[in-house]
Amino acid sequence: MCGIVGYCGPQSAVTPLIQALRRLEYRGYDSAGIALGVRGKLFVEKRAGKLANLENALDIELPVVHSGIGHTRWATHGGPTDRNAHPHVDNDGKLAVIHNGIIENYSQLRLTMQERGHTFSSDTDTESVAYLLSDLRKEHNGDLVVAMREAVKILRGSFTLVAIHADNPDVIVGVRRNSPLVVGLGEGENFLASDVAAFINHTKRAIELGQDEVVMITPTTVEITDLDGAVIAPREYEISWDASAAQKGGFAHFMLKEIFEQPKAVADTLIGRLSDNKQIVLDELSMSVQEIRALKKITVIACGTAYHAGMIAKYAIEKWSKIPVDVEIASEFRYRDPIITPETLVIAISQSGETMDTLMAVRHAKAAGARVLTICNTHSSTIPRESDAVLYTHAGPEIAVASTKALLTQMIAVYLIALHLAQVNGALTDEQIEGLYIELLALPGKIEMILETVEPLRALTRSFADKNTVLFLGRNIGYPVALEGALKLKELAYIHAEGFAGGELKHGPIALIEEGTPVIAILPVADEHALDQKMLSNIQEVKARGACVIVIAQDGVHVEGAQHIIRIPVVSALLQPVLATVPLQVFAYEMALARGNDVDQPRNLAKSVTVE
Ligand code: F6R
Repeated sequence: MCGIVGYCGPQSAVTPLIQALRRLEYRGYDSAGIALGVRGKLFVEKRAGKLANLENALDIELPVVHSGIGHTRWATHGGPTDRNAHPHVDNDGKLAVIHNGIIENYSQLRLTMQERGHTFSSDTDTESVAYLLSDLRKEHNGDLVVAMREAVKILRGSFTLVAIHADNPDVIVGVRRNSPLVVGLGEGENFLASDVAAFINHTKRAIELGQDEVVMITPTTVEITDLDGAVIAPREYEISWDASAAQKGGFAHFMLKEIFEQPKAVADTLIGRLSDNKQIVLDELSMSVQEIRALKKITVIACGTAYHAGMIAKYAIEKWSKIPVDVEIASEFRYRDPIITPETLVIAISQSGETMDTLMAVRHAKAAGARVLTICNTHSSTIPRESDAVLYTHAGPEIAVASTKALLTQMIAVYLIALHLAQVNGALTDEQIEGLYIELLALPGKIEMILETVEPLRALTRSFADKNTVLFLGRNIGYPVALEGALKLKELAYIHAEGFAGGELKHGPIALIEEGTPVIAILPVADEHALDQKMLSNIQEVKARGACVIVIAQDGVHVEGAQHIIRIPVVSALLQPVLATVPLQVFAYEMALARGNDVDQPRNLAKSVTVE
């Protein structure tokens, strides 16, 4: 989604603005622009395409000024062109605004602005806001803060807006509604940004902003007010990671770095949640023993990769704690009249904590009376703030668009919740919990072992680079792993990839198999249902129809019928997704590289999807 930055301080503004836009690139974008706070008339430059296009255009003698705003745009209204890029300026060239989100009443607003004589030069919803702010500022004696407040009362939808005016260029004004905006507090300089990555190399002090709060920054002051003008006390916090966490650290891509960070991310997420007497400690749930025992149902809501963590939650919670679980794609949840009672616990899963579909589902659940627990990786983001309880994963910043380490830590969070519930309602014995506790602690080391042996897998992957279809098969808790393998491959390699439950194969999908079609099968752990044998039969079925079968199997397990076997360490059945997912991430990464794709910023995608 769009990246936003505002700067005022002692530096020549172009430098921190471009640095910030570089750090926000990971959010996904297709054009970029800046406005520099030149007194009298702003300097504005914007270009479609990568940031390098903007930098080339800025390779001229630039005004040395100490404030400005910058934007990376992920196109919604209007294609990714120079004229649709942000900032948008008023007809005097004095006021510039940048925007993330969607202005829902923009058609009406556009008509009104045209009637008032403003000439439009873009197809965006944002341009109307530039004219609206400009008019309101004139009506309110040149006060941009008041203009912003009044504008927000008129606008519908979700938005972060940041604006600057050439008559008072040391002042930058922003507001947020259902879309992220944070303040960075530096020494003699201040920032506004869509996320802390934009300014983490300058300061670790940040202020979170609430809904409809208007913020004004100068180099030395920050003032936050509500829509009535009442002053709001700043909620300051310290960012817990440092600038190096948002750099590639010697890896070719953020995604590869994040894949290799998984042992640490998993270990960090376990810290403090396993007691010395081998119990699960989850004070963050904020639920009494009575409340947990009274639970009748759990509903998990999430999108994309986080949804796959939700599916894993269903298997783990139902098996261990015997509480029924529904898993729902967040964007479908609230349009279906879901049945929610006070005995329903809703678990939202979101890496960013800003995904609009998940946020709307959370609001719906809360309005229906449910208690909402969120699993999230981003401190102080909107979804945790609106939830009753939060379990933070400690994956550190995830910069690559394709989620890797966040997913593994979401799985850990899910297991911890499942075990905690089982512990409280007595569904598992102390010995069973202790066994799983020991296994959880061993997971980082096992992920490490997989990562030490990925080179043959990378070479194998390259041999499939010309394939246009790859199918993934899983059974039981391996099914969400198959779905995740397919999603990762689609988003990174841009090829047709689908995940199936092994048993479904003969009900249709087997018709997709052609000579040489790669099929990746996740072999389940042998159990009382002989699921492993059933998967081995599936392997024979696809092989007989020409598939090239790659099996992910635990060390020592006999596998028949596969052309290639990828080994993972031995682990109990329900924990296998943590290990089986890792080779699939490497497969998707390598396939994207082999096909010459942009690994960290795949086409058309944004890191956090802040529109519905
Ligand atoms: C896929 C991916 C997306 C996200 C989804 C939810 O690699 O990253 O599918 O998982 O957009 O995002 P969050 O977890 O931020 O709510």
